[in-house]
Parts: sequence; structure tokens; C-alpha cells
Amino acid sequence: MRHFKTDKPSGLAKNAIGQSFAHESALKQVTGKAIYIDDKPEAINSLHAYPVLSTITCGHIVSIDTRDALSVTGVVDIYSAKDIPGKNDVSPVFSGDILLADDKIEYHSQPILLVVASSYQIARTAARKVKIEYQETATVLDIKQAMAEQHWVRPPHALHRGEPKKAINDAKHQINGELYVGGQEHFYLEGQVSTATPTEDGGMFIESSSQHPSEVQHLVAKILNKPFNYVTVEMRRMGGGFGGKETQAAPWACLAALAAFYTGKSVKIRLARGDDFKVTGKRHPFYNTYQVGFDDDGLITGVDIDINGYCGYSADLSDAIVDRALFHADNAYYYPAAHINGNRCKTNTVSNTAFRGFGGPQGMIVAEQIVDDIAYYLGKDPLQIRKLNLYTPGRDITPYKQKVEQFILQDMIAKMEVEADYWARKASIENFNQHSPIIKKGLSLTPVKFGISFTVQHLNQAGALVVIYADGSVHVNHGGTEMGQGLHTKIAQIVAQAFSIDMQHVLVNATRTDKVPNTSPTAASSGTDLNGMAALNAANTIKERLLTFASEHFAVKADSLQLVNNQLIHEKGKISFPELINLAYLNRISLSSTGFYATPEIYYDREKAEGNPFFYYAYGIALSEVEVDVLTGENSVTRVDILHDVGNSINPALDIGQIEGGFIQGMGWLTTEDLSWNDKGQLASNAPATYKIPAIGDTPAEFNVTLYDSQNPATTVFKSKAVGEPPFMLGISVWSALRNAVASITDYQFAPSLNTPATAECILGAVQVAQEWLQAQKKEGSEQGQQGVDDA
Ligand code: MTE
Ligand code: HPA
Ligand code: MOS
Repeated sequence: MRHFKTDKPSGLAKNAIGQSFAHESALKQVTGKAIYIDDKPEAINSLHAYPVLSTITCGHIVSIDTRDALSVTGVVDIYSAKDIPGKNDVSPVFSGDILLADDKIEYHSQPILLVVASSYQIARTAARKVKIEYQETATVLDIKQAMAEQHWVRPPHALHRGEPKKAINDAKHQINGELYVGGQEHFYLEGQVSTATPTEDGGMFIESSSQHPSEVQHLVAKILNKPFNYVTVEMRRMGGGFGGKETQAAPWACLAALAAFYTGKSVKIRLARGDDFKVTGKRHPFYNTYQVGFDDDGLITGVDIDINGYCGYSADLSDAIVDRALFHADNAYYYPAAHINGNRCKTNTVSNTAFRGFGGPQGMIVAEQIVDDIAYYLGKDPLQIRKLNLYTPGRDITPYKQKVEQFILQDMIAKMEVEADYWARKASIENFNQHSPIIKKGLSLTPVKFGISFTVQHLNQAGALVVIYADGSVHVNHGGTEMGQGLHTKIAQIVAQAFSIDMQHVLVNATRTDKVPNTSPTAASSGTDLNGMAALNAANTIKERLLTFASEHFAVKADSLQLVNNQLIHEKGKISFPELINLAYLNRISLSSTGFYATPEIYYDREKAEGNPFFYYAYGIALSEVEVDVLTGENSVTRVDILHDVGNSINPALDIGQIEGGFIQGMGWLTTEDLSWNDKGQLASNAPATYKIPAIGDTPAEFNVTLYDSQNPATTVFKSKAVGEPPFMLGISVWSALRNAVASITDYQFAPSLNTPATAECILGAVQVAQEWLQAQKKEGSEQGQQGVDDA
């Protein structure tokens, strides 16, 4: 069933949009030639820095003794908060994200000092020799305690529509539920790393593995008390970001810059993996509760949902993340009446941050739990309940009042029911389960509707710089960063398409703040939507100039000119693209241009809790089949079918790669990736030995990914759709299928709640709950039966 969509928009040159080009770094990555920050040759006399981390979770610093550390040969100096010339704050939006703790400690492993030395080993060894005395205070680690004490990093925010309480009470049926949703470690293969090199005029040149070079620039300037133009940040590629380098790359760049500022030398910081686990924020765990009212068919009449994010000690991006959880607590379903509240709970843990989906997954899973719970309650098939509650014309207003305008999920599901044989497989699984006491199979199809745009309006802008050199070769800079997703490849395709030239003539490499300024993070899946449009605008500006020039030069009508297949064709003849460029150069035509793009129409009014935060939605569906061993809870995913909507695909191979990777990462989040803290708030799962991400053996034995053939109705670049995050949430189908397998124990009359990650241990717990439920039913049944006999 796996097939690439290769048809391209009509009239386009070969080698451009719609073609499965390999990722620009692929060959270099597999041959070890792709250069990451830590691979670069170090400057002569360059230094290394390492942070000193708190050994308590909450309290105050009483005394610091750095004598032993300073006496280690090779140690240059040790810096504290007092040495920061500017502001000791690296917050992206609000304040309170601290660079170095001054007095107060708010989470375990919080950085306190920075040791600078001649080598990485010396810096790390010396960092452990610093003696710090603390006075410990009480911690808040439990979310229910934070909720009870209204211990927030930001005030709550809620969406409302109609009278949900009344709608629920008046409904024929009511149920409620709760769910703990686990967090997730980013586990980028390249950890946090940065170098800072002083420049001759007191400025700083930074290389940072960051999704947000502009913010790194701004924060380095802020801590050094310098204007922004003193700091330049360069980023060639990250070995993965996944949201973990949207804000959380900045502190390491700032610390490297602080040390470079004092020593006058180039300074590098690279966190050891265990420390990277401890000192960087993760996906927010959530605790969610819901109440729903519905009729005999399973049609939802009202919901009251409460979602609570574990934000950690500071705001970071948590406000926007919990907002996105609110915006996705409907997933693809219409709630006629709704109250959806989101709390931003403050806990004494590292500050949680962006992670693929940005709160969306943690909100969306509530909707999927609700429809499953309704189905088991009514004894109906979960897919029926899903189909019944999908947004449709007339039932199309979200709880934040954005109107849904594209209704392709119905068709996608219909196709999947046929192509992946849903109904026959369901029947055969039910039959299998009746005869198999130990291995139980489960099946579930879940949809995704994911809003595309930054929900913070001003971030929806991008810039690009397109340069054509006199030989006709093209260099593109844009505001986005490459983290493996293939953004640079897609941008090169877009620019090649604009000039109708072959891909190999277009080069996109490092992102630099002195080439394209004031950029947004590469996040919210918007890299291609925003930067692709900006690059296209820049290319079109140059193209206009070229065509105007050629029309005058060759004395031909402007509308007779065409750039096709590396050539300019006109009424009187044709010349090659390099010839055209050389001619334009000799005639003093400007061959470079900036381009800019701002997404139109989007806004969100927080006061009213309504607006159009999203330019459009991306859709997908996944059908997962699993097997569970009810004696051990061990499980595997045996088959997955995905149909996903990327609009007109710019690059089908890259899009399919994003869908596969996103799905697997989502599945890992919900099944094996188990973050655990001890009762003191210290992260216990801080290495691959204790934290299990999916490995190649966890790939479903049968894994079919198909792109849904439909262009984006919104005016995006070549009518494509964003793909980075939406497929992550297709992983929810695995969790739902696991519940379905467990529900087979009760003959699908009851599905125990299944907190995530649904580890084998957790599934075994759910199996026991299901077995107890069955026993209780039987007992009740036999007592009633006995009652009947007695009465007779
Ligand atoms: N794919 C790879 N290989 N590595 C990554 O770090 N990050 C994801 C997604 N896909 C990521 C990835 C996240 S969180 C986002 S927001 C998008 O890529 C960002 O890139 P885009 O906007 O260009 O899609
Ligand atoms: N997604 C990702 N990153 C962000 C967002 C968002 O919606 N808003 C601010 N940073
Ligand atoms: Mo992605 S979480 O928006 O970096």
C-alpha cells in the first residue's frame, strides 16, 4: 500500500516541487561527513566550560567553596550569577527562567556556577569539586498538591461554549474519567552544545545547536548587556531538536558567551548526556479529567474537561503549550457545549518545554479517551462513535470559535476502512480473542486534526535572502533551521522551481542572524510554510527583475518570456540560465533580494478566548493493531496503516519520513518512554539504560504509509501542508489499540483507564482491573440469578 505521490503541478520544470529528493545532508550524515558543532576544529587556546549543578531540589544556597576546584591544574576561572554583566534571565516570553541560581534553588540539578578550564575533562572534574552548602525547603512535586495550592507558573485559561454543565446533566448518559499523561525526553542524538568566540569589537560569534538562533542572539546580548548587533549566531544543522532546542539551547550559548567575555577566548560547552537529561526541560506531563454527556447513539452533547500541565519551576513556553493542549482537546470532534480549562502547574522540576506537538498531543488524547469510553459504555464500535462525532458542515465551530472548513477525515476513514480492511479484521480479532486466553489482540483507528500556525501571532513571520552569483549558481539563506526534518531541501526545491533550474544549482546551508534577522523559531511545523514563502517571494522579486531586463534587452514582449528547464525562452530565441544571469550582471541588474512573509488572517483574542489561531488544519488517520500478553503485559505493534494529508507534497520521500518518524516517536511517548523521579525530585531515568526510546525492533512488522491526495485549500507554498508535528499524534492509535486489547477481557463492555506511558507494567495493571471487573460482574450476575431462584 506504500506509494509515493509523484504527480507534480502542471507546467513546472523537472527537478523541483513534488519530487522525492534525498535530504541535502543524507549522504554526509551516513558517511560521517556532516559537521556538527562538536566536530569543528577548535580555535587555538580555546577553553571548555561546565556547569556546577545543585544537589538539592528546593532551598537556598548557604555557602560556596570553590577552592578545591580552582586548585585543579588547568582551571581558568569559575563564574557565578554575580558575574553576569546584564540580566540573569533567559526567559523566552515572561521572566523567571534563570541562567545561574543566585540564592534560590528550585529544581534538582539547577546550574549554579560555571567552571572554565583548558579541557572538557578538567572542567567537568573540577565542577564536581565545588562544595556548596544548602538550606533545604519543602518541595512541590505532586500535581494535585500544585492544583490544590493553586501553585501556577501562569494563570489558568479556559475555553467556553454554551452551557456544558446543563448539556451534560440533560444528556441521556454521563460518564467521567481521568488520565495521567507522561512527559518525554527529547533524546536528540546531538546533545546541547555551543561555542562562543569573542570578536574584535567586543562582540560575540556564537555557534549553537538551536532551533531559534535569533533568540540565542537576543539572550546572549541581554546577559552581556550589549546591543543585538554585537552578537551573531550561526547554525548549520542540529542532530535533532524536536522542540528541545527551541528555548533550551540558549542557556548553554549564554554561558559559553559569559566565559568567552571574561577570558577573551573561544569557549565551548557540551553537556554530558546524563546532565542533558537532568538540566533540560521535557515534554510536559499532564493530569487530565473529563465529564461528558451523550445520547444513545454516542453523540456528544457536552464536555467539561480540565487539563493540568506539569510546567516545572518556571514559565518558559508553558503558557502557549497549555493553550495548544486546550485547542486540541476536541481533536477532530464537535462539542456542542464545552468548558475546557487549562492549568499551568508549578512544580519543583526542570522547566518543561516544547516537544513535537507542543501540548497538542496531551490535549488530544483526552478526546480519544472520551470517544473510546463512550463506545465501551454503549457497547458500540469505537470507530462508529468517532465517525458520528467528527466535525461536519453545520457542526463545524471549535470551542475557540474557529470555523472548520475542510472535511476530509470522513473520506480518509472511508478509504482506510476499505484498503486496510477494518471491519473484517475487527471481526477476526474478536474471534481470535475469544479463543486465545493469553494473547489478546487490539485494533484502533484514530484521527488527527492539528492546527497549523504559531498560536502567538507575531511569530508567524519569516525572512529569506536569495543571492544569484554571476555564474548562475544560487545561494539561499532563510530564517529556518535544519534539524533533520529536511527544511533546507524543501526550500532549495522551492527556489529551484521559482527559477525553473535544477536543484544542484541551489545551495542552502547555515542559518545566520546577520543574513536574515529577527527570525522565529523553527517550530510549530511552520518551517516550510513560513520560510518557503519568504524564499519564494525573494526569488520572485529577482525573477521579475530578470524578465523586465530581458524584455528590454532582447526587445521582446514581456509575456513572451519564460524560464523553463534552465533556460530563458523568448520570441526570438533562447539562452541558458547562467548566460542570462551573466548578461544581467554585465547590465548592472541586482541579483539578490530579501523576501518576507507573514501569515494572513490569524489571531486569537485571549480575553474572549476566541479567534482563528490556525491558518489551516493538517489531517491524518492511523489504524494500529497490537498484541498483548495478559500474563506479563508485554506487547507489540504488529501492523500500522497511515493515511496522512500533507496537501500537495513538496517532497514525498521527506514527508513520508516525517510521518514514519513522528508516528514512532509518538508511539514511544505513549508506551515505553517512562520518565521517573525519586521522591526527592531527582530524575532517576537519566540514561538510555533506564529510559527506553523505540528501537528498530519496535517498528511495526507491517507499516504502510500513504499520502492523502488533496491540495491545501489555504494559500500556502505550492498548496502544501506542514508535516513536522501532526503525525506524532497518530501514535495515539497504539495506546487506543492497547486499551482495545485489554477491553476484550470484558467482552468490550469496559476498558480500564490506561495512564501513559502504557508500559508492560501499566498494561498488566489494566488487565487486572479488567479481570476484577469481570469477576464482579459475574458475581453480581450469579447473585441476581440466586435472587431470582429465591423469589420463585
Ligand atoms: N524531524 C527531525 N528529523 N528532527 C527534528 O528535530 N523536529 C520536529 C519536526 N520533525 C524534528 C523533526 C518538530 S518538533 C518540529 S516543530 C518540526 O520538525 C520543525 O520543522 P519544520 O517546521 O520545518 O517542519
Ligand atoms: N508551537 C511551537 N512553538 C511555539 C508555539 C507553538 O504554537 N508558540 C510559541 N512557540
Ligand atoms: Mo516543535 S515542538 O514546535 O519545535
